[in-house]
Amino acid sequence: MCGIFAYIGKRTDAPEIVFEGLKLLEYRGYDSWGISYIDKQVLKIEKHTGKIGSSKLSKITKTNIALAHTRWATHGGITDENAHPHLDCKNQIAVIHNGIIENYHELKLKLSKNNHAYKSETDTEVVSHLIEDELKTKGIRQATFDVFMSLNGSNAICALDKNSQSIIACRNGSPLVVGFDEIKKQYFLASDVPAFLKYTNKVHFLEDGEGAEITKDGIEIFNIKTGKQINAKIKTLDWQLEDAEKNGYPHFLLKEIFEQPKTILKSSLINKDAIKKLAKIIKESKKVILIGCGTAAYCAQFGKYLFAQSGIQTEIYGAYEFKPFAKFCDKNSVVIGISQSGETADTLIALKEAIKYGVRTAAIVNSRGSTMERLVDLIIPIGAGPEIAVVSTKALTSQLATLYLLSKASEGKYLQAKKNIQKLSNKLSKWLGNELSENIIKLIKKIEHNEHMYVIGKNLNYPAALEFGLKIKETSYIHAESFTAGELKHGVITLIQKGTPCFVLASNDEVKNEVLSSASELKARGGKIIGISPFESPEFNDLIKTPDMGELTIFGNIIAGQLLGYYLGVSRGADPDKPRNLAKSVTVK
Ligand code: F6R
Repeated sequence: MCGIFAYIGKRTDAPEIVFEGLKLLEYRGYDSWGISYIDKQVLKIEKHTGKIGSSKLSKITKTNIALAHTRWATHGGITDENAHPHLDCKNQIAVIHNGIIENYHELKLKLSKNNHAYKSETDTEVVSHLIEDELKTKGIRQATFDVFMSLNGSNAICALDKNSQSIIACRNGSPLVVGFDEIKKQYFLASDVPAFLKYTNKVHFLEDGEGAEITKDGIEIFNIKTGKQINAKIKTLDWQLEDAEKNGYPHFLLKEIFEQPKTILKSSLINKDAIKKLAKIIKESKKVILIGCGTAAYCAQFGKYLFAQSGIQTEIYGAYEFKPFAKFCDKNSVVIGISQSGETADTLIALKEAIKYGVRTAAIVNSRGSTMERLVDLIIPIGAGPEIAVVSTKALTSQLATLYLLSKASEGKYLQAKKNIQKLSNKLSKWLGNELSENIIKLIKKIEHNEHMYVIGKNLNYPAALEFGLKIKETSYIHAESFTAGELKHGVITLIQKGTPCFVLASNDEVKNEVLSSASELKARGGKIIGISPFESPEFNDLIKTPDMGELTIFGNIIAGQLLGYYLGVSRGADPDKPRNLAKSVTVK
């Protein structure tokens, strides 16, 4: 949550560079934004509420050093004053921050004796004033490191110092990555790589407890506690510039939905060894637990059904509800975290809790260099590339493809499963296109004014229904509630009225007839039945036909929900890339 971006280099359009790069970090929060830069020895600052997307910088200034921040509010309302950066009393230091400073009240009390003037209600502002005090006796790097050491909580900060013309960054629990372009002598710091992918793919992911000093001469990495310099571990990422751009699509969300045949295929071509290793651990373990949050928690639910088909019993938890059950784990348990970002606080906390009981851990993660990657014993990177739209699409289907391969690998059927994913990718790429979009848009015209919709499914189509409903809720703000088909007649059928849109997710499987019976019960109460399945049925008033891929039919059923959510959102005037109140990486509890 909150996006950090900073630049130092030879170019003199640093404010525009950070302003443009910040747009690619907006998925981290978009309540307000701000930038700071040094203009002729004066520290300048510009802050605004609202999204950066349609804004412009009020003034073009030539300077080669700047930083920028996009905010997801935690302390203090959404106002210009509370937007970052925050300055010290002398206008020498500009600070931006991602995280929550848990002890900021105490730190502020300590500082109040020194008569600092506060302009905001944020926890962050205390940092600029603390650095101001520390600077009386030491240089900017040591001052920033010492202040950072006094902060409690998961935090990343970045301070621009006018006097030394340097940027100091510190990380503990909130992501930071530095980017090196040694050829053009320009250097970057960001919460995530897409901000600077246009300039370089050579990165060092800061570890917890690491700090960086960035000047026009380069980047130096330090251990914050000891102050000792550390060698940068520079990685060259295989991400392309196009991964961070819309490439002609009106929104990242649509682009990422359409990328899925490719990303699913890619996920099936990597990780063979890691998948086989984890499959072996799973088979040896007495308890197998899958955890995640939101869409990733639904992915865990898919896993439960897939592993059951392979004869393996698993437990699943929304990571935020795992703690009371952690005590039942031991060294014979394996806990697998599922996450797009690898930074979700609830999932990290659950994994750390499990580790206390001596479990083995693994994670299925999309982002590279994440905290989760460093925390677990075994990482399976799904390789879907940067997911920039706030709601998760291609990361889920790649995680799902990976879980499918993993479950099949545990039965010794990895190669067959890989072939199945390749076939799926082919079928999906033929199916996903203009005709499908046109059908969905036609359907939307009939239902877009309804404020309540229902989604049912059974077995593998139950988590698919949960995800389908979530996509509609997130992108169009329509109340779309999902149930297992079996639950309907136990109460919730009371909600159905004449014309209520009811999506029925089905596959050609052994529960098909049960699901169609539920559809018929809905229809009898006046529900408007929209089939999401590879087959037609007299129960359906409308049908979005999906590719018939056996148990993998769920992929098409999920993607139909993503597209429905997208087009419903567009038609109701929502911003599909940045739904209200959400942030992509939920790094706070
Ligand atoms: C839904 C969505 C969220 C995330 C959840 C977990 O579209 O994006 O529900 O799935 O916040 O995030 P990660 O996967 O980064 O752990």
